[in-house]
Amino acid sequence: MRKKIVAGNWKMNNNFQETKKFLSQIKVKEIGSEVEVMIAPAYPFLKFAKDFLVGTKYEIIAQNIHNKLHGAYTGEVSVDMIKSLGLNKSIIGHSERRSQFKETDEILLEKANLCLNKGLGIIFCFGEDLVDRQSKNHFEVVKNQLINTVLKVEKNKWSNIVLAYEPVWAIGTGETASPKQAQEIHEFVRDLISSSLGEDVSKKTSILYGGSVKAGNAKEIFSQDDVDGGLIGGASLVSEDFLTIIESNSSY
Ligand code: PGA
Repeated sequence: MRKKIVAGNWKMNNNFQETKKFLSQIKVKEIGSEVEVMIAPAYPFLKFAKDFLVGTKYEIIAQNIHNKLHGAYTGEVSVDMIKSLGLNKSIIGHSERRSQFKETDEILLEKANLCLNKGLGIIFCFGEDLVDRQSKNHFEVVKNQLINTVLKVEKNKWSNIVLAYEPVWAIGTGETASPKQAQEIHEFVRDLISSSLGEDVSKKTSILYGGSVKAGNAKEIFSQDDVDGGLIGGASLVSEDFLTIIESNSSY
């Protein structure tokens, strides 16, 4: 059985008061036992959020970590710092990191190995942009992104890897991949993992979909065979919508 996951990526949204308000709203809600729920607030509030949600089913995770262990990297946050807060996961390779912060496959592989060697799990993002999709290159692009990064990670580390397919053209645009488009890439990726690392790994790896998942479309997307949940941006900032999305992944 693969883990069903719903993860909210808040990006650079929610100040301290907003963070507290959101967490107070969700804390009192029961969530189904079959789904794992993660929230990635901004760095300054990670410790507060983790402590605030102690004893609940919500897990606080980081949005990113730096690719070096420590040193003269002004403004950056290391894997040790995240670990020292008692956190167990970070998102890695979000398309905004790739495009705005020029994170290459090489850097992302460094980050993935650093996290996994230190025992920090990763939600590793990948996905094609609009031009790739329009020129029907999306399978090739996705394959290369994975071959150059996580598929180079040792097999015994894969129990700590979750993948998130996030077509760039669907992120924050309101345009969502159809359930069929999501399923065909997820199935393709599962086959790729199987041929590279074996069916045992491929069957156990959760693959999330991200890109304009909303309360109204989550259920249909999550119902696809190879979609194990979602990485949610905008809709994770509204507690009611986020709770509905969690609920949508509880009944499959
Ligand atoms: P979105 O973002 O849900 O706002 O499209 C998804 C993401 O970037 O993870």
